[in-house]
Amino acid sequence: MKIAIFGFGTVGSGVYDVINMNSALIEKRAGKPIEIKYVLDLRDFPGNPVEKVLVHDVEIILNDPEVKIIAEVMGGINPAYDFTKRALSLGKSVCTSNKELVAAHGAELIELAKKNNCDYYFEASVGGGIPIIRSLCDSLVGDDIVEIKGIVNGTTNYILTRMGEDGLDFDVALKEAQENGYAERNPAADIEGTDAQRKAAILASLAAGHQVDCDDIPTEGICNITAEDIACAKGLGAKIKLLASIRRDDEKVSAMVAPFLVFENCQLYHVNNVFNGILVTGNATGEVLFYGRGAGKLPTAGAVAGDIIEAAKYYGLPSDIIWSREKAKMAEQGSISGRFYVRISENEAMEARKILGVNAESSTGKEGEIAFITEAMSEKEFLEKTKNLHILTRICVYD
Ligand code: HSE
Repeated sequence: MKIAIFGFGTVGSGVYDVINMNSALIEKRAGKPIEIKYVLDLRDFPGNPVEKVLVHDVEIILNDPEVKIIAEVMGGINPAYDFTKRALSLGKSVCTSNKELVAAHGAELIELAKKNNCDYYFEASVGGGIPIIRSLCDSLVGDDIVEIKGIVNGTTNYILTRMGEDGLDFDVALKEAQENGYAERNPAADIEGTDAQRKAAILASLAAGHQVDCDDIPTEGICNITAEDIACAKGLGAKIKLLASIRRDDEKVSAMVAPFLVFENCQLYHVNNVFNGILVTGNATGEVLFYGRGAGKLPTAGAVAGDIIEAAKYYGLPSDIIWSREKAKMAEQGSISGRFYVRISENEAMEARKILGVNAESSTGKEGEIAFITEAMSEKEFLEKTKNLHILTRICVYD
């Protein structure tokens, strides 16, 4: 079985390494040897063994009938979207880590694959090395998925952990994450929450079986989280985590990405550094926790390699992933009820406590400021009640 890799960046070189490193066991598991015939990249890699299979022109690969499977690990919509559509139309299965493309066009590409008797697989698009996609599509397929809550961005979890546990500055922690190959090419997607939003869109679409667009998911990153907030959270016995939160009630989906205060009694409190943790609740199975490395070269490459083996093993017998292009029914935004962490100046504290109710309080360590946790209310209610107050930070509490 001849394959090609589109992109020789962090993940692409990882896929190349994993396929070569594990070739004997991959042959056993796929039932046939898997050989990398081409690697596509615009760059040259002088002295790297990849040179033997490196090509700069995608047409060479698309026009080669021997190539049956493609690992698309270029990232971004263009030209990956066009290349993927052309490959699938030619009956070549595509395995990808490209969450941006999957979130935007997953339903269409799955449909195109089915039409051409091949597969579009995307295990590595969410949770890096964690087998969350196949679990949702196969193992948990007997369940109605009612809730998914997860830490799905390794870079921000790394930053928040290093700031909270080691007192590192935001910039230093981000630089470390980039050096370790966790961050996106443009880390704004990590810290502004866009990467987690794409993953939330994929998970929500699979849970609903219908398209949930990124635009349907209100998203807030970690850029406004201060060292004081992290210290206050600690004082309250909690940590701040960037969560993707998806719920399904009465056939309606609500989804959001935002920083949350997470307490020790929740498993996600213990998910630190680059690790991701995803709590899935099915109406039959109950809670299932997925935990593992959510970013990095080899964990992500391992997930792509798993897809390649699956595609090779069942070549000509494509799987049936339920993700329709029809839009999912979305719940009204801001309607979910929960408690909030609030940081506010002492001048307004009395008024804020009266309006919002107080569940727990902490000193911020900064003169003239206090932080507290409110009673439960919807976000709409919260915004209405606080419209005349100057809230310094507001963070949802995970309950
Ligand atoms: N930048 C992403 C993360 C890579 O940090 O999770 C894996 O999708």
